[in-house]
Amino acid sequence: TTMCSNKRGALIVVEGVDRSGKSTQCKKLVEALEQANFPAKLMTFPDRTTLTGKLIDDYLKNKDCKLNDQAIHLLFSANRWENVEKMKSLINCGVTLVIDRYSYSGIAFSAVKKVMNLDWCKQPENGLPKPDLVFLLTISLEEMLTRPGFGNERYENMSFQNNVANMYNSLCSDKDNWVKINAAGSIEEVHKKLVDISLNTIREVESLPLKSLYF
Ligand code: TMP
Ligand code: MG
Repeated sequence: TTMCSNKRGALIVVEGVDRSGKSTQCKKLVEALEQANFPAKLMTFPDRTTLTGKLIDDYLKNKDCKLNDQAIHLLFSANRWENVEKMKSLINCGVTLVIDRYSYSGIAFSAVKKVMNLDWCKQPENGLPKPDLVFLLTISLEEMLTRPGFGNERYENMSFQNNVANMYNSLCSDKDNWVKINAAGSIEEVHKKLVDISLNTIREVESLPLKSLYF
């Protein structure tokens, strides 16, 4: 068994619509934290490597896959639940997790379909590890239009993404652990903000218990 640090790591989530720069920023943030001597690890949801992840990948690629809106919603949630033990043990060993999408993607992308109500969408997320910090990378509709084209996956179109952006805004409205970052700035500008805020949070929470998410 490995020695665990007596300080826990932080749970940091990065959310935002497609092409807001989440993946680039998550990678750079992990590198910067490690360089500052804070152990850090990148996680991504959906985690397409697991059993549920393979079903999700088929669904997103529009493969012959008959999942309805409720079933895919619960699979995205299960895909987080199956990673809980791993997340907790890393955090409790002092590793800061930087997560590219989490429950808020799950809620926002499903709720905009208007098939299930917002409250229904939130329920399966209750009890997951609670992020200490959520960055919401925001870009305007105009800025979205200037970024390189969408791929061929489900949800990759402007009107859906615009509805998701609005849903993120309403999810974030009264939360003190959310920080909105204007992602229209340069990669380095945005990066510097994420690093500064993350380092503060890591120090703030290192001796506080990890909480559970409740909506
Ligand atoms: P990705 O592009 O970050 O790999 O995410 C794949 C798509 O899945 C993206 O359009 C957002 C969507 N999504 C959900 O609908 N529910 C979820 O819980 C998550 C994590 C992602
Ligand atoms: Mg994508």
